[in-house]
Amino acid sequence: MKMAIFSGSSNPELAKKISKYLKKPLGKVELKKFADGETYVNYLESIRGKDVYLIQSTCTPVNDNLMELLIMIDAAKRAAAERITCVIPYYGYAKQERKARDREPITAKLVAELLQSAGANAVLTMDLHADPIQGFFDIRADFLYASGALVKSVLEKKLKNIVVVSPDVGSSRRARAYAKRLNASLAIIDKRRPKQNQSEVMHLIGEVKGKNAIIIDDEINTGGTICNAAQAVIEHGAKEVYALVSHAVFAGNAIEKLEKSAFKEIIVTDSIPAKRKSKKIKIVSIAPLLGEAIITMNQNKSMSKLLNPAK
Ligand code: R5P
Repeated sequence: MKMAIFSGSSNPELAKKISKYLKKPLGKVELKKFADGETYVNYLESIRGKDVYLIQSTCTPVNDNLMELLIMIDAAKRAAAERITCVIPYYGYAKQERKARDREPITAKLVAELLQSAGANAVLTMDLHADPIQGFFDIRADFLYASGALVKSVLEKKLKNIVVVSPDVGSSRRARAYAKRLNASLAIIDKRRPKQNQSEVMHLIGEVKGKNAIIIDDEINTGGTICNAAQAVIEHGAKEVYALVSHAVFAGNAIEKLEKSAFKEIIVTDSIPAKRKSKKIKIVSIAPLLGEAIITMNQNKSMSKLLNPAK
């Protein structure tokens, strides 16, 4: 089926890299806001009968980016696209994936339902906050992992005596998979959240003394979790500390916190556009991974060679 790729407003740099990888120009689409803030979308070329890919991370401003994606889906459906795939490198609203307290929403499920109701036929996303979110989609959905690109960037450093550190118990399966690939030992931090957006290190389980510690996480939001983890690891005698993180959410003053932190380097992907440059932050691109996945989906071939689960 003839393919067409379009970028939403959230991450045009990544969309351009994907288009370069695919050797296919981005389709022309007008995206603008009316005076009252409503979003307007108009495809400036025919997409009738095409296999359409809409590239949009639902990062900050999350509500605008999500709504823009929904409207892009709606316009594509009404323009008779044959298949509409949402390429969502960073799937926002995923942290509310279960009820932690009474009378809370499950926004990860709500967003999946919104995409489906708008007319999406498939979703391609990467490193969901929690794997069980996969079950929230009743349409075709493929889930990629950035671990291949992130591990490669560590292997290039030729570090010896590595310990992979999970910054909380929830991420320990992911950390164990990284440890296996890096031929490293594993340590786990027992983290508590006294309040939303606040975190405290309670215990460190495992040996980090004299080792090069690599802390693994799916995202850095306020930076509290990972900076506290780095401090704890250094206080327990680690030699150097690095971070490997899929999504650079970087809310508020996260970048300033990271710059002042114990980290030697923080390696993130470009699933979310960089807010500003920092000497401590290295960005690895996931455009080749997403580009290859788009080609594979378009040709209806097996995705298994690309699915590199970090668990
Ligand atoms: C927690 O479950 C996640 O894996 C991240 O550790 C968390 O979202 C990071 O948030 P923050 O940077 O605000 O501590």
